[in-house]
Amino acid sequence: MKVLVVGTGGRDHAIAWKFAQSTRVSRVYVAHGNAGIAETAECVNLRSIEEMADFAQKERIDLTFVGPEKPLSAGITDLFESRGLPIIGPNMKASRLESSKCDAKVMMRELGIAVPEFENFSDPGKARDYIRSVGYPVVVKADGLAAGKGSLVCGSVQEAEEAVRLIMEERIFGEAGQRVDIEKRLYGRELSFFCFTDGYTIIPMVAAQDYKRARENDEGKNTGGMGAYSPHPWLDDGLVQNIMSKVAEPLIRGVREKYDMVYRGILYLGLMLVESGTEVTPYVLEINIRLGDPEAQVILPRLRTDLVDISEAITTGKLDRIQPEWDPNYRLCLIATSGRTRGKKGWYKGYPDRYKIGVPIEGVDKIGKECLVFHSGTENNDSGRLVTTGGRVLCIVSSGSTLDQARQAALSEMEKVRFEGIYYRKDIGLE
Ligand code: GLY
Repeated sequence: MKVLVVGTGGRDHAIAWKFAQSTRVSRVYVAHGNAGIAETAECVNLRSIEEMADFAQKERIDLTFVGPEKPLSAGITDLFESRGLPIIGPNMKASRLESSKCDAKVMMRELGIAVPEFENFSDPGKARDYIRSVGYPVVVKADGLAAGKGSLVCGSVQEAEEAVRLIMEERIFGEAGQRVDIEKRLYGRELSFFCFTDGYTIIPMVAAQDYKRARENDEGKNTGGMGAYSPHPWLDDGLVQNIMSKVAEPLIRGVREKYDMVYRGILYLGLMLVESGTEVTPYVLEINIRLGDPEAQVILPRLRTDLVDISEAITTGKLDRIQPEWDPNYRLCLIATSGRTRGKKGWYKGYPDRYKIGVPIEGVDKIGKECLVFHSGTENNDSGRLVTTGGRVLCIVSSGSTLDQARQAALSEMEKVRFEGIYYRKDIGLE
């Protein structure tokens, strides 16, 4: 069977790697990939969803799996399905759960799912009045897609007003900042929880701890993710049942029955677990319509079941026949990013701010075979040298029977990787 993976990042590398493990798969193509992905799969330079559909039709691709949210929100699933091409990922209508933070929050409130107190605004003046009136710390979120960086966590009224200015007036996230969702900042433990669903049956996957802030001790700006590990220490069977019955099931059933959205693919719930006495309430901070990056890099290596079998069950509506199996051992991922460097125009602060690209990378070939290496922003330049092309460059995924064992292994392997300005958080997995 031939599989096409859509994506160019570390998550998409992990998806391609997982399909390449399947005895049912003869060829894995990735549109459009990167230097690391090219070692796992065949990269094809397809940029638009129409080009991808044409390719899938011409090459008789049996299954397409979409990594990122952008093509899903642009309607890749609707396009493939209109041509009878099997594809994993929600259609454009259901993608609204990620492509509009404001609409998703309203839907969840109407469905009785726990979300932080919030209001939506398209007028920056009214947003500022609201911030001054509430009297608690808030998070200001750009409504649209912002590559995981659109949530500004604010410590004061002043910071929140500045967030409104940046998002709605300066438009640092472009059109994504036409509206904002302003929500009460909750304190607790974050958890990224994933499910497979065919729109009717929902199967919990496993959860991961993601680290979104750029600097150690959860300081600095929000990024797309600086590291992750799985299993999550808080996730026991009771909590899985709690999340399934209070969030995942009412959401998938509710959007189908109330909003006519049949949601098929991966459901990613960004949750805040808030303890009150002996009770833990999972509040939904965000819904994503895909696997997380870097959560996929620690979750997929734990999946023992063939992803082709699961994908086929999703596209044919037979997910009730699947019981995925998971390796209980830890996986931990450290992301090497393009940090502070001196560029042609002075100092670059480094990811998620400005960074240099085209920087030669050394030492990847020295990483021990017991670890996995997934690339996010790399290419082979004209002289065939591996160089950086993005803020997140590559990640190392280690394993261990304890979290600390996995953490030490990833840290010691990462020391072998060298490029100018390399930065990675050393506190990933430090409980
Ligand atoms: N790790 C956060 C995300 O994938 O959106």
